[in-house]
Amino acid sequence: MTLGKIIATKETPTPTEIHFVTDKNNIDKNQYVEYSSPQGKSIGMVKDLHKTNRYFDSPESIAQIEKTGVEVTEKFPTQEWEHTVGEVKTLGIYEDDFIERPTKPPAPGTKVKEPVLEELRDFLGFEDKGLEIGKLQHHGIPIKLSLTNLFQKHLAVLAQTGAGKTYTVSVLIEELLERQSNEGRVASLVIDVHGEYRSFENSERYRDKVKVISGEEFKIPVGSLSASDFKIFIPGMRRPQERELSSIIDKLRSKEKPYDIQDIIEMVWKDKEMNEKTQRALMRWLDGLSDDLFGKTGSNVKKLVNPGQLTILDLSDLIDSKERGIITNYLSRRLFSSRRRKEVPPFVLFVEEAHNFASEGDISENTIAKGIIETIAREGRKFGASLCLISQRPMRLSTTALSQCNTQLIMRITNPHDLEHIGRTSEGIDESSKDSITTLRVGEALLVGEAVSHPVFIKIRERNSSEDELGEDLEEQARKYEEEDNRRSEDAEAFM
Ligand SMILES: Nc1ncnc2c1ncn2[C@@H]1O[C@H](COP(=O)(O)OP(=O)(O)OP(=O)(O)O)[C@@H](O)[C@H]1O
Ligand SMILES: [Mg+2]
Repeated sequence: MTLGKIIATKETPTPTEIHFVTDKNNIDKNQYVEYSSPQGKSIGMVKDLHKTNRYFDSPESIAQIEKTGVEVTEKFPTQEWEHTVGEVKTLGIYEDDFIERPTKPPAPGTKVKEPVLEELRDFLGFEDKGLEIGKLQHHGIPIKLSLTNLFQKHLAVLAQTGAGKTYTVSVLIEELLERQSNEGRVASLVIDVHGEYRSFENSERYRDKVKVISGEEFKIPVGSLSASDFKIFIPGMRRPQERELSSIIDKLRSKEKPYDIQDIIEMVWKDKEMNEKTQRALMRWLDGLSDDLFGKTGSNVKKLVNPGQLTILDLSDLIDSKERGIITNYLSRRLFSSRRRKEVPPFVLFVEEAHNFASEGDISENTIAKGIIETIAREGRKFGASLCLISQRPMRLSTTALSQCNTQLIMRITNPHDLEHIGRTSEGIDESSKDSITTLRVGEALLVGEAVSHPVFIKIRERNSSEDELGEDLEEQARKYEEEDNRRSEDAEAFM
């Protein structure tokens, strides 16, 4: 369908920008259009729309006419002179599946049309089969993306609180769980800070593919830790202390018997040759590590992940952010080293509240897992180890890790500092996209980067599995509480 015609303005048309006039009212900002250029069929995105009307060009004449008591809109055919002008950025030339850069301007007077949906789909880099995350806004075509394009070079999901990050990530996980063996299945593992992903456990459709381990259940086998591992958990530890700890660990290992933190402390205490100050410091550091977290034996990380399955590490029962950091560090390191040796399947590690695990700057307990997250971000793609970092504070997220996320799914953000930051770290975002990010509604997202040829606005699809009550609104939670409370007191009365 024809939408309008390219007009000549002082600055346009250029190879990358056109303006067109239209009398249609159904054109939206961020929708796609097509038009011919000397190079072939061009596809562009409507970056902005404005209305013109020559009757209202001059404020003085309007004011003068109104003064005489004449209603301008009644006296003159003003409506007929109202037009809409669309400002379009040319994204590329689409000829026979081949995408070229636009280098020549189209002619004024050229028709601007609605794009052919199949062509638009190919042009934007969507697949016939793949992870279906939602629909293209304004055009309604399903967005299916290849596993490789979306995850191999890591994904960041960024938005302010309540914009729908967890919901969207759950949709992504559902898509991963739906895959068949012959399509290539990765293992999914989510660091779940608020226990929100446990709803997968209650879903009939996915229950069999889900494993949950809580923070309290997770144990780190002390025998697997070297002195430098301890140094990561205890950032304040000094070199001489680390050296002494290393020789103690050697001695314990030579006994070939499982040992725990208390065994190390005892050995330090009994060591007559160790400098007393070092001895005291080491004992204090080691004593500060929770016994609940470390054991003679521990969780087998390799057994935690399986192709086509989801493992939820529910850290909501741990209040101490240092403990969360230690578990995340240990788990990620084990997973990554096992993956390098091909002992575990390729995986996607989803990290909720990623800014609390890999913080920019030096907030000690928030940086325990930072090193390994940055390592996976830098090297993971070669080994099939992918990250999905989820954060409502992109400013506080490690720049190294964020800049390695080649695809970004951005939902509503209104904080100007966060917006600026995202604009700097992501190439695909211009001023007009930034504007649109502030007005996105819940469940709408902008996808930029490796996964798509051009930035696209998405309406995220509905979940197949239901959310648990953490996702419910406050009214619902309050109502449920009172209902349950009433039931409890009725039960109690019946009992008396
Ligand atoms: N695509 C969607 N369709 C329908 N409802 C949605 C969608 N996305 C999010 N919601 C709803 O919006 C609310 C907030 O979503 P969600 O918990 O995913 O936000 P969030 O960005 O993870 O927030 P937080 O930063 O607090 O973790 C939830 O009640 C959820 O049901
Ligand atoms: Mg969330």
